[in-house]
Amino acid sequence: MGKKTVRDVDVRARRVLVRADLNVPLDNGVITDDTRIRESLPTIQYLLEHGAQVIVCSHLGRPKGPDPALSLAPVAGRMANLLGREVLFAEDCVGPVAEAAVASMGHHVLLLENLRFHPEEEKNDPEFARQLARLADLFVNDAFGAAHRAHASTEGITHYLPAVAGLLMEKEVRYLGALVANPPHPFAALIGGAKVSSKLPAIQHLLPKIDLLLIGGGMANTFLKASGFHVGASLVEDELLESARQVMREAASRGIRIHLPVDVVAASRFAPDAETTTVTVDSVPQGYLILDIGPETVRQYTEALQPAKAVIWNGPMGVFEMEPFANGSFELARAVANLDAVTVVGGGETAAVVVASGLQGRFTHVSTGGGASLEMLEGKTLPGVAALLDA
Ligand code: 3PG
Repeated sequence: MGKKTVRDVDVRARRVLVRADLNVPLDNGVITDDTRIRESLPTIQYLLEHGAQVIVCSHLGRPKGPDPALSLAPVAGRMANLLGREVLFAEDCVGPVAEAAVASMGHHVLLLENLRFHPEEEKNDPEFARQLARLADLFVNDAFGAAHRAHASTEGITHYLPAVAGLLMEKEVRYLGALVANPPHPFAALIGGAKVSSKLPAIQHLLPKIDLLLIGGGMANTFLKASGFHVGASLVEDELLESARQVMREAASRGIRIHLPVDVVAASRFAPDAETTTVTVDSVPQGYLILDIGPETVRQYTEALQPAKAVIWNGPMGVFEMEPFANGSFELARAVANLDAVTVVGGGETAAVVVASGLQGRFTHVSTGGGASLEMLEGKTLPGVAALLDA
């Protein structure tokens, strides 16, 4: 990755502050998906095995100041269960409370309270970064999901402590950066999600590298309309019709095969109990909304993916949160999981599809970053990575 990692530094008997992304979904204080906690464990375990004192910090949600509903205390409990050892919790991430907790932590793991309870965190306030840095001798950034943010705990702190990457950060950058830059071929991109606007920069960055582009989700509507189909009352970004045409022209000029849905599941309303119909893309009923790809599209996309040696998947194929419109996303999850290829899944909603399908172990890599993975696919340099010591 071009950056130093925990493996490149001596951590023995040092106080190490690990920035993790423990921003897990909560339902009334109950953790509904602990993937990010699990993914933070290898770095913590590595540090413990190599004799470091491990202090962990993270944000949770987007509080505008202290908010008990967004305390990291439940995360400390889950982390302790998963690690099989005690995890202490400090009710503040800086100042006397945090410093006293570090002084008395011994060989236990210590988790600090939500960084964003201090507005200075998101402002990348130098004094706040310095206060965090006082807690440790070494900084390890393992929070890939927050690496696109230049905050005090991701960027500011690196001005005060030697800073290296954690094992998850290293893995994420390897699969979303290095793989995309130098993939085995054929390399396929399966791109979905609601809007073209959010995926256009990633598509444009990927085009020179891929051999095959498969488009699904709400964003396919704009491509279908740009190709002359009537898409009923579906979500369309009319201002991007020309951009969609440009993508199709560029793909054609590069010899990239581009697939659009040939059939879709359309609904009378945006609701799970709406009337639905499965139709070819040239016969979407007036007033209906396209909410999933259809079975023939699933078949064609599955077949088109077979020769791929690498696949990057970002964005669901339909409104997978509603059962009648989930089939396309789950079938493609199965299709990609079954490939004999390097398979990389962007974080956020796509990772949620994979987790809901129970297939996460069958992919080469499922990213823990939503916005961060998209920015990497756009070819951007993430400030949290750029700030780490060069290898
Ligand atoms: C995420 O969930 O994408 C990361 O934890 C970053 O969170 P943020 O968008 O609130 O900065």
